[in-house]
Amino acid sequence: MRAAGVTQFGGPEALQVVDVPDEPLGPGQVRIRVQAATVNPTDTHARAGAYADRDPVKQPPWVPGMDVAGVVAEVGEGVEHVAVGDAVMGIVVPTGAHGGYREDLVLPGGSVVAAPKGVDAAAASTLPMNGLTARLALDLMGLAPDQVLAVTGAAGAFGGYVVQLAKADGMTVVADAAEADEELVRGLGADVIVRRGDDVAQRIREQFPDGVDGLADGSVQDALVLPAVREGGAVATVRGYRGDGQRGLRVFPTLVRRVAEDRAALDRLRQQAEDGVLSLRVARTFPAEQAAEAHRLLEAGGVRGRLVLTF
Ligand SMILES: NC(=O)c1ccc[n+]([C@@H]2O[C@H](COP(=O)([O-])OP(=O)(O)OC[C@H]3O[C@@H](n4cnc5c(N)ncnc54)[C@H](OP(=O)(O)O)[C@@H]3O)[C@@H](O)[C@H]2O)c1
Repeated sequence: MRAAGVTQFGGPEALQVVDVPDEPLGPGQVRIRVQAATVNPTDTHARAGAYADRDPVKQPPWVPGMDVAGVVAEVGEGVEHVAVGDAVMGIVVPTGAHGGYREDLVLPGGSVVAAPKGVDAAAASTLPMNGLTARLALDLMGLAPDQVLAVTGAAGAFGGYVVQLAKADGMTVVADAAEADEELVRGLGADVIVRRGDDVAQRIREQFPDGVDGLADGSVQDALVLPAVREGGAVATVRGYRGDGQRGLRVFPTLVRRVAEDRAALDRLRQQAEDGVLSLRVARTFPAEQAAEAHRLLEAGGVRGRLVLTF
């Protein structure tokens, strides 16, 4: 079975086409013939070996990738919500050779739903992982519709979905953007845009002098963004930052693995994509053989929309 993975952790060049064993299909599981797999920042960390210690699988190859879209090839006993031949999307919790960058993949049924109608597999693959993370970040913060949310990294995949979901929930959204991304971020629905950068918290305070009620930190600026938030406000972080313990801030490290089998949430994202609430943004597709090039581009920064591998 063809996959893009590493036998030795390293730079982008470590990523090569590898042969991986077929995965057995158990009850409640779905086998997908993968057509598209997104390239996310976490995949570059996986490729470099950042998660090797915590991965119970110690044998190469390691296959990165956390979301996919394709066609159902087989369903396990008890699976009724999708059928063979359906176009689907799914979220992957990678371990060893079980990652998104492979042409044949078995996932828990709860991690797989119908793909949004009217979009191709590349576009569909951009939704599950970052959509679920954005939803979880908002749910953890639990803001009310009349409250104000700030989003950093708003031009990115996670930040963009947070902006769109928060607007759909009725919040006022202030988002950061580089000058070149202003139109993009405004198009996502942000009410107020401030220039991104190390002083983003001060710029948010200039617009909301009492501080915002919540902040989703998609740019991973950690301590730098905390001053934007009012005393007792909420912060969702995406790479483990737990805050500085000051001013009663409620900091929520947001881990998408927690909701990787929340089929209802995934299906709601599908519906919101079909309804035009969420926009699916593909920067470029690459045949899986060019996975290393996709990793190089992502690590260089400045990519808008997701890079997607095709099988
Ligand atoms: N914990 C979880 O379960 C989970 C799930 C999903 C995502 N994540 C994490 O969330 C983060 C965002 O992911 P993503 O897919 O949205 O990445 P992305 O698409 O690359 O977006 C990140 C955005 O932040 C911007 N940015 C980076 N550094 C910045 C800085 N110092 N100041 C201002 N803006 C900055 C980037 O701009 P440039 O491109 O110009 O640098 C980009 O627009 C990643 O670290 C990812 O690993 C975690």
